[in-house]
Amino acid sequence: MSTKQFDVVVIGGGPGGYIAAIRAAQLGFNTACIDEWKNDKGGPAPGGTCTNVGCIPSKALLQSSEHFEHANHHFADHGISADNIKMDVAKMIGRKDMVVKQNNDGILYLFKKNKVSFFHGRGSFVAAKDGLYEIKAGEEVILAKHVILATGSNARQLPGAPFDEENILSNDGALRIGAVPKKLGVIGSGVIGLEMGSVWRRLGAEVTVLEGLPTFLGAVDESVAKEAAKLFKKQGLKIELGVKIGEVKSAKDGVTVAYTDAKGAAQTLAVDKLIISIGRVPNTIGLNPEAVGLKLDERGAIEVDGDCKTNLPNVWAVGDVVRGPMLAHKAEEEGVAVAERIAGQHGHVNFNTIPWVIYTSPEIAWVGRTEQQLKADGVEYKAGQFPFLANGRARALGDTNGFVKFLADAKTDEILGVHIIGPMASELISEAVVAMEFKASAEDIARICHAHPSLSEATKEAALAVDKRTLNF
Ligand code: FAD
Ligand code: NAI
Repeated sequence: MSTKQFDVVVIGGGPGGYIAAIRAAQLGFNTACIDEWKNDKGGPAPGGTCTNVGCIPSKALLQSSEHFEHANHHFADHGISADNIKMDVAKMIGRKDMVVKQNNDGILYLFKKNKVSFFHGRGSFVAAKDGLYEIKAGEEVILAKHVILATGSNARQLPGAPFDEENILSNDGALRIGAVPKKLGVIGSGVIGLEMGSVWRRLGAEVTVLEGLPTFLGAVDESVAKEAAKLFKKQGLKIELGVKIGEVKSAKDGVTVAYTDAKGAAQTLAVDKLIISIGRVPNTIGLNPEAVGLKLDERGAIEVDGDCKTNLPNVWAVGDVVRGPMLAHKAEEEGVAVAERIAGQHGHVNFNTIPWVIYTSPEIAWVGRTEQQLKADGVEYKAGQFPFLANGRARALGDTNGFVKFLADAKTDEILGVHIIGPMASELISEAVVAMEFKASAEDIARICHAHPSLSEATKEAALAVDKRTLNF
């Protein structure tokens, strides 16, 4: 049997890889995608970290736990009384698993629809010869003219505290805790720590988050971070900043974490489960980069230029395994851009308009620069802010925490950053992304008709606030 040859072979079927494969196939390339993720029956589960143990399952659990919180604490405000509200954790986890499976199946369907050949198994370089790359795809060896690497990332280990996924949990174990722990510890108050901490707090766990840095959410606009810290504290999430983690001991009945607090005093935290969420590291395990001389940087990421080109001809890399934010939509944009570049088109990713969202309650979302960044860059700017407390739709929803904040150039009025903490911030931010992509001014948004009553009116009002002329505040 002759060796199968493809125009484009994508290694990794997460959001970077599967989207790159679909776009390459759309552009007429004979395309294959290799992904090794297995479901609990050993079958294929494409979609990567995002679909299996990241974006999708975390949002499923955030939704379930938010319903529980509403039933317990907010239904009464609407005149709804409910007794004996219980959480069936196994059912919640089962629903989350079903949502994941729907997404896995959806990707397999999309591969069929777009005629992408799917290989379930590990992809690794064998050799480069005659202008082609020989790649092991599971049990087969295939040939590729172009290769797109999208092998993602793994949870960073804390030295001395290996993940056992029973007591010491990465994002994987944190998404399938079988019963609500009485006490939950989290190391790292980043995105995962806050999202997963929120899930289990809403379900009744006493959650303590230990953060190494002295500032809370340092990458977020300072006023948003301050508001978030206040609201999370009110919700009962304990966050200790400026700690230094010492020995972590895991026993049958739980975990103890020795640490030094911000004042230098020795402390111990005893918990039933501990989530460690201290960032992620690029993954090239099993790729065999040495076989072809693929260059990695000092962090273990695949070295690429601004166009996602590696040091090897016709080998590209996208997503978490390269520099830049570790976000699913960033990976997807790079995947599309690379497929288009292979086709001789001008694929483009604008790093200045990549939105960030933290799916806590309230949600936090932003695009562009923060106020502290503008100050550090010496940019003259105007700020405008509007609270959800003054928004009719937010009042009707009973969700009035937070605000929308605009930052615009002092001279040109061009929007430089938009920062939202409040209901549906994840959806509201896209208006700001579109505006910034089109280099809009704050006045442009202020003059656009927004539906009433809607949360998006807070966006318009914050844009009006830049010119100190809000109408409803
Ligand atoms: P991955 O999704 O990691 O996919 C890589 C794939 O390649 C995997 O399937 C892996 O098995 C496969 N693979 C690796 N090596 C090989 C090999 N040699 N052969 C074959 N297959 C291989 N981002 C957001 O934008 N929004 C969110 O809400 C969000 N929530 C998150 C929540 C959690 C708990 C976590 C952990 C992450 C979250 N992220 C979120 C980040 C997001 O998951 C990643 O940025 C995204 O998955 C990166 O996509 P990727 O394609 O680069 O890599
Ligand atoms: P993170 O980078 O968001 O946060 C890690 C936190 O751990 C930081 O605050 C850091 O200061 C702290 N930390 C690091 N080492 C420490 C130590 N030894 N002791 C105490 N604290 C320490 O990383 P996280 O939460 O693990 O998430 C990884 C990535 O996954 C995110 O950066 C993001 O790219 C992605 N993600 C995105 C989501 C979203 O878009 N909503 C949701 C979840 C994850």
